[in-house]
Amino acid sequence: MYDAAAPLTEAELRELDAQYCSWGDTVHYMDEPKFFESCEGSYMFDAEGRPYLDLQMWYSTVNFGYANPRLNAAAHAQLNRLPQVASSHLHREKIELAALIARDVEAKFGRKGRVHFNVGGAQAIDDSLKIVRNSAGGRTRMFSFQGGYHGRTLGASTITSSYRYRRRFGHFGDTAHFLEFPYAFRGPKGMSKEEYGEKIVADFARLFESDFHAVYDVKAEQSEFAALYAEPIQGTGGYVIPPLNFFKGMKKVLDQYGVMLVVDEVQMGMYRTGKLWAIEYFGVQPDVMVFGKSVTNGLNPLAGVWARDELINPTVFPPGSTHSTFNANPMGTAVALETLRMATQGDYERTVPEKGAYFLDGLKELQRRWPQIGDVDGLGLALRCELCQADGFTPDKALMDRMVAEGLKGDLLVDGKPMGLILNVGGYYKNVITLAPSLDITKDEIDLALKLLDMLLRRCVEA
Ligand SMILES: Cc1ncc(COP(=O)(O)O)c(C=O)c1O
Repeated sequence: MYDAAAPLTEAELRELDAQYCSWGDTVHYMDEPKFFESCEGSYMFDAEGRPYLDLQMWYSTVNFGYANPRLNAAAHAQLNRLPQVASSHLHREKIELAALIARDVEAKFGRKGRVHFNVGGAQAIDDSLKIVRNSAGGRTRMFSFQGGYHGRTLGASTITSSYRYRRRFGHFGDTAHFLEFPYAFRGPKGMSKEEYGEKIVADFARLFESDFHAVYDVKAEQSEFAALYAEPIQGTGGYVIPPLNFFKGMKKVLDQYGVMLVVDEVQMGMYRTGKLWAIEYFGVQPDVMVFGKSVTNGLNPLAGVWARDELINPTVFPPGSTHSTFNANPMGTAVALETLRMATQGDYERTVPEKGAYFLDGLKELQRRWPQIGDVDGLGLALRCELCQADGFTPDKALMDRMVAEGLKGDLLVDGKPMGLILNVGGYYKNVITLAPSLDITKDEIDLALKLLDMLLRRCVEA
């Protein structure tokens, strides 16, 4: 059917994709997803070599820029030396990486712990569910948040709020009790962000006052809930930033009733907010922390879990508890080790908040000119821009979809040259541009991003 010697045309590839690829493993937002040929820094390039400024970096998986030379070199070096090794043996990169993370967490949160690996965020979340359940004395239920996202394996989707991910498949375990998250822009009117957070904490505490609230047996002093799963900033939920005192309040209630705190850093970790772990902003100690995505800058898959020693040491969580063939693969651990070394030796704690503040100022300026921008907010380089109808409040998913599609056409003219803009869609109503640019983005590139967003708004609002 096709000449194997000649590269397939785009049309031929699309035909094969339609016939042979499952689309169940994709998140196709567009009728015709875009092909890309190469990438570098903050840009993806199409077959004609046209640049697309990427403001989402594979959903915060390539925080340190596409084709980062230092990290690519680490991958090449590992490929040449020890690319494969079974996990019944040891290799130095895995151990050094685990020690680096565990020591960092111990220094920051004062807790001794161990690190455990798997290949993707959702698998690591599943492993964390086992770790928590194993030490929870038979308690199997979890709290998590409306708008929270923890992945799409069977385990992770039980604590992910969107019903869409369970609708076709039903329930395979105890679905979480989903708590309200302080999404201030759509919260109660007349309440500050902090007051809204405090109200949610008070409502949470009240759940434990009576058996009839379905979470606690007051007489036996027992709950069937083992942990609260929380993203420090909601990622897929639309980069929703809670007030800085929120998790302290929640943790007080959790401690009172012996419920653990599991922090999901898969999307917000690795300096996205200006701290290695976003939870560092919130003054609480996690019992368990899950990481993934940018830990390898999007090269070989690797994710993992840090847990307090009492929950994960080999006497309570022995070999084989979650093993998977590729869990601590040498390519992934080698790249992750180099990524963490590079990132922690860098100056991201200073540069990311500075760049984030500059970008947010620019977004605020856009908001003043476009009533369709209902809300902008940011912490470091995790930024949100919520698109609404002209009333500045009614969610406008259609405008979001138009902007994504137009950005990918690659025909925005800057100094006479065509280019594109890559945006990610997030939010409870799929109307939020969740901005996760490269942490190495330059001031000029931020100016360009703002200019391209303005051009897209002009094109799509006025369409
Ligand atoms: C906060 C969070 N947790 C977990 C996951 C799942 O990670 P993965 O897609 O690698 O399974 C994601 C992915 O977007 C995420 O954002």
